[in-house]
Amino acid sequence: MAKTKVIAVANQKGGVGKSTTVYNLGAGLAMQGKKVLLLDVDPQGDLTKMLGLRKPNDLPLTLGNAMNDIVAGVSGNEHPEICHHHEGFDFVPGNRTLSAVEVGLVNVMSRETVLRQYVDQIKKDYDYVLLDCRPSLGMLVINALSASDYVLIPVQAEYFAAENMTELVNTVQNIKRQINPKLKIGGVFMTMANETNFRKDIVASVKAAYGKHLPIMQTLIPATVQLAEISTADHSIFKHEPKGHAAEAYRTLVKEVMDIGEKQRSKSAKPAKSCQGLKTQK
Ligand SMILES: Nc1ncnc2c1ncn2[C@@H]1O[C@H](COP(=O)(O)OP(=O)(O)O)[C@@H](O)[C@H]1O
Ligand SMILES: [Mg+2]
Repeated sequence: MAKTKVIAVANQKGGVGKSTTVYNLGAGLAMQGKKVLLLDVDPQGDLTKMLGLRKPNDLPLTLGNAMNDIVAGVSGNEHPEICHHHEGFDFVPGNRTLSAVEVGLVNVMSRETVLRQYVDQIKKDYDYVLLDCRPSLGMLVINALSASDYVLIPVQAEYFAAENMTELVNTVQNIKRQINPKLKIGGVFMTMANETNFRKDIVASVKAAYGKHLPIMQTLIPATVQLAEISTADHSIFKHEPKGHAAEAYRTLVKEVMDIGEKQRSKSAKPAKSCQGLKTQK
C-alpha cells in the first residue's frame, strides 16, 4: 500500500463544521475506494454520536483507552476499539476518557506524541486516517497535529473569520518546527456559507489576508438543513441528499484532498472487525 496520509481537521473554534467534515470527507473517500479510518479525538464524542454510537460515554473501548495503553507501554496487535461503519470506513470512537488522558499527559514522557504512536500502530491498513480535533489548542490537538501529515482548517464563512486563524497557524508552525517536521497545512476551506455571506465575499477577504501564506481551497460548504440533519440521520450527506449542493460541495473537498500529495494508492487492506459497543448501541 502506498503511504498512508494522516490528516487532522482542526480549528480551535467550536461549531465550524469539523466533525461534519470528518464524517463526510471520510464517507466520500470511502466511496472513491479508499481505505479510511476516522479518529474521534474530541472528548465530547460528537463524531462518535454522528456515526451512530449515541452514548459515547458508555463505550468500553475508545481512543482514550487506546492512548492509555500507549502511555502504559501495553501494545498488542489486536485493536478491538476499531469499529466499522456501514458506509465502508472504519472509526475509533472518542469519549470523556480523552479528557482524563489529556490531563494525565502532563506527567508523561513524550506527551506530544502519544497519539502518533497509536496512529503508527494502525495506519498501515489505510489510505487515509482523518483526525477530528476538539475545539481548543490543548494537548489533544497538539497530539493530533504531531501525528499528522496535513491539517485541514474549516473556517466558518463570517466576518472576521480570518482573525481567529492566526493562533492556529502559529501552533501548526511551532509543532512543525519542534515535533513534526512533515506537518503541512493541506488547505483552508469555508463552511456554513449562506446567501448573505456568499455575497459579501468572505472567501475573497480570507484569500486577501492569508492567500499568500496558506493554500485556500476551492471548496465552499454551504449552510444547509441537510448537513445539520445528518448529525442524527446515521448516514452521510452522500446518502442523505446525494444530488444537493452540500453533497456536491463535499465531493469537491474529497477531490481536493485526494489531490494533496501523491495520488497512487493500492486498495488492498484488511477490513476491521466490529468494535464492542457497536452492537449493543445499534
Ligand atoms: N454546512 C452546515 N450547514 C448547516 N449546519 C451545519 C453545517 N456543518 C455543520 N452543521 C451543524 O452545525 C453544528 C456544528 O457542526 P460540527 O461539525 O459539530 O462542528 P465542530 O466539530 O467544528 O464543532 C452541528 O449541529 C452540525 O450538524
Ligand atoms: Mg466537533
